[in-house]
Amino acid sequence: MALSAKRYTITAALPYTNGPIHIGHLAGVYVPADIYSRYLRAQKKDVAFICGSDEHGVAISIKAKKEGVTPKEIIDKYDGMIRKSFVQLGISFDNYSRTSAKIHHETASEIFTKMNGAGQFIEEVTEQLYDPEVNQYLADRFVTGTCPKCSHTEAYGDQCEQCGSSLNATELINPKSTLSGAEPILKETKHWFLPLDQYEDFMKKWVIEGHKDDWKPNVYGQVKSWVDEGLRPRAVTRDLDWGIPVPAKGADGKVLYVWFDAPIGYISSTKEWAAKNNKDWEPYWKDEETSLVHFIGKDNIVFHCIIFPCILKAAGDYILPENVPANEFLNLEGNKISTSKNWAVWLHEYLEEFPGQEDVLRYVLTANSPETKDNDFTWKDFQARNNNELVAIFGNFINRVSVLTQKYYTGSVPARKDLTKEDIEALKKMKAFPAIIGQSIQRYRFREASQELINLARLGNKYLAEQEPWKLIKIDPIRVETIMNIALQIAAALATVSEPFLPHSAKKLRTILNISNPTEWNDISTSDDLLVSGHIIGKQELLFAKVEDKTILAQLNKLEATKKKNMNDNFELSPVKENISFDEFSALDLRTGTIIAAEKIKKTKKLLHLKVDLGFEIRTIVSGIAESYSPEEMIGKKVTVLANLNSRTIKGVESQGMLLMTENKEGKLIVIGPEDENMGNGFEIN
Ligand code: 2FM
Ligand code: ZN
Repeated sequence: MALSAKRYTITAALPYTNGPIHIGHLAGVYVPADIYSRYLRAQKKDVAFICGSDEHGVAISIKAKKEGVTPKEIIDKYDGMIRKSFVQLGISFDNYSRTSAKIHHETASEIFTKMNGAGQFIEEVTEQLYDPEVNQYLADRFVTGTCPKCSHTEAYGDQCEQCGSSLNATELINPKSTLSGAEPILKETKHWFLPLDQYEDFMKKWVIEGHKDDWKPNVYGQVKSWVDEGLRPRAVTRDLDWGIPVPAKGADGKVLYVWFDAPIGYISSTKEWAAKNNKDWEPYWKDEETSLVHFIGKDNIVFHCIIFPCILKAAGDYILPENVPANEFLNLEGNKISTSKNWAVWLHEYLEEFPGQEDVLRYVLTANSPETKDNDFTWKDFQARNNNELVAIFGNFINRVSVLTQKYYTGSVPARKDLTKEDIEALKKMKAFPAIIGQSIQRYRFREASQELINLARLGNKYLAEQEPWKLIKIDPIRVETIMNIALQIAAALATVSEPFLPHSAKKLRTILNISNPTEWNDISTSDDLLVSGHIIGKQELLFAKVEDKTILAQLNKLEATKKKNMNDNFELSPVKENISFDEFSALDLRTGTIIAAEKIKKTKKLLHLKVDLGFEIRTIVSGIAESYSPEEMIGKKVTVLANLNSRTIKGVESQGMLLMTENKEGKLIVIGPEDENMGNGFEIN
C-alpha cells in the first residue's frame, strides 16, 4: 500500500454535544484518527484533519428537556468541554467546528437546495408516528420499539444500535414515545425523501465491487448485507423545532434530519479551516487526487457508507470516501459503555485524575483497540499495559540510556568505533522499524503498529542487556562508547516514531535527548547518525510513571459506586402477589435459629454451606448469600428458617430449609431474623 494521494481529508465522527467524551469514543474514532493524521503529517503529506460538534438532532433536545434548559445551553456547555478535553489529550484536529455555526447552516442548506432543485428528493405525504399526549411527531430518539431486523427491544426511530440497521420509525414493532411513554398514533405529514433505492447500482459498483479487498471486513460485510436486502427511500426532513430549517416551500416547522446535516459538517468545517488558513477548501472535497477517509464507530457505518456517499454523489462533483475504517465497540469492565447509566470512563475526569498521563490512555486504547471485534477496557489491563509495557520496556530503555550517558560521558554522545555483528544487526533492525510501523498504520492496524513501537524499545533493551555496558565499562571503555552510541540512536528513532501514538511522551523524549529537530520518519532508514557524536543530551527524567494499585482500586470503587447508584435509582418495590388463604399461610413452618457454622461452597460465587441450630436439631442449609455475607459474618447470626420446605441437593449438599431474607436497593441480600438477641432457637413464628 502506498501513500500516493496528493492530499488527505481525514474526518473523525462529529460527537453529539449532549454529553462529554468517553473512552469508547476515543478508542473507536479519535485516537486512531489522530495517529493516522499525525503519521501522514510525518510523511510530509498535505492533511486536513477535520471534526466538530454535532449539535442538532433529538439527542440534544432530549438532554435539554431533561435538564430543563435550552438546547443552546446544552450545546455550548458540551462543545466547550469536548474541545478542551480533545486539546489536552493531544488530538491534533486541523479544524474543530460546530454544526450550529453559520457556515454549516449555509452549506447544508445549499446542498439541500441544490439537490431539491435537481429533483433528487421525493416529496411525499405519508403517515408518521405521532404522540397524541404531547402533540408531537415522533422521529429518531423520540421513539423506541422493537427492531424488525434483530428484535432488539430498544431500537430508535431511525436506527437500531444493536444490529446497526437504519430504520424508518414506522417500521418499529410496539413503538413507544420516549417523551410521554404513550403509544403513538399515525398522522399524515409531508417529508422530503432521498430515494436510496435508486442508488443500488451505484452502491454495488462503488462498494460491493470496488472495495471488496481494501475495506475492513466488518464494514464491507455490513454494507453488502444492507445493499443485498434492498435499499429504501429515507426521509431527510423532520417535524421538529431544533435543527436547520428546511430551505423549501411548504416546509414551515420542518428541519433537516440530523444525519443529513451532520456529515455535511465535515465539509463546512473544512471550509472554516480553509478560510482561516487562506486555502481553497474545494480540492479537499472535489479533487480525485484527494484521499477522503472517515474514522467512525460501527453504529455510524450506514450513514457514512451509504447515505452520505449517496448525498455526495447526488450533490454533484464531490469525491467519495476511499476508506471508512470503522471500529467495533469498547466495553468497560465487561459491560456496555452507557452515557445514561454513567458507565464510562469520562475523558475530562481522566485528565483531571491522571495529570501528565494523557499518553497512557492513548496507548492503552490503541493497544487494546476494538479493531476487529468488541473489546473490553479494564483498569487492571490499563495498569498492566502501563507498568509492563510503557514503564518496564519503553521507559526503562530510555532511562538506562540517559542515566548511563550522563554517568559515563556527562551527557555527550560518544562516537562509534569498530562495529560487531550484533551492532550492525541492531542498527539494521532499528532502520526497518519506521517502515514496519508505517505499513501497519497505512492498513489501519493501529494495535499492531503500537506493538511494533514497543518492539523497537524492546530491541534497545535487548541490545543493552546483551552488550552489558555496565560490566564492560571497567575493562573495555572504548567498546562501551560504541554500545552507548548505538543505544542512543535507537532512543532517537523512538523519539520520531512514537510521536503519532504518544505525542506528549515524544516531546518529553526530545527534551531528554535535547533534540529540537528529530530525524524525519523516512530518513531513519538511511541515516547513520540520528544523534551525532558530541551532541549533549538533556537532563535525565522518567518518561513514564508507574500506576499504583491504590489508583486502580480508586477507579474500581468509583465504578462500583456507579453500579450501586444505578440499582438504587432504578429500584422499584415489587408488586404484591396474589392473595393466599390463612390455611396456606399456616402451612408454612417458620422457626427462629442461629447460624453455628458457615463456609463457602468451592467453585461457586454465591453459595454458602450453613449449619443452623433450630433448638430441636441442627440443619444444613445451602444459601445464595455469599456475595452479601462472608462466612465469618454469618456465624452467630439470628435467622428465620422455613423449616418444612422439601429438601433439595445443591452442588452435592442436601439443603434442608431456607433462610428468610430481602434485598436492599443496592442489591445486597439482608438476612431477616428475630430482633431480640436473646431469642432462643426453634421458636415458631406465626
Ligand atoms: O454517532 C454520533 O455520535 C454522531 N454524532 C456522529 C456524527 S458523524 C457525522 F456524520 F457527522
Ligand atoms: Zn436491530
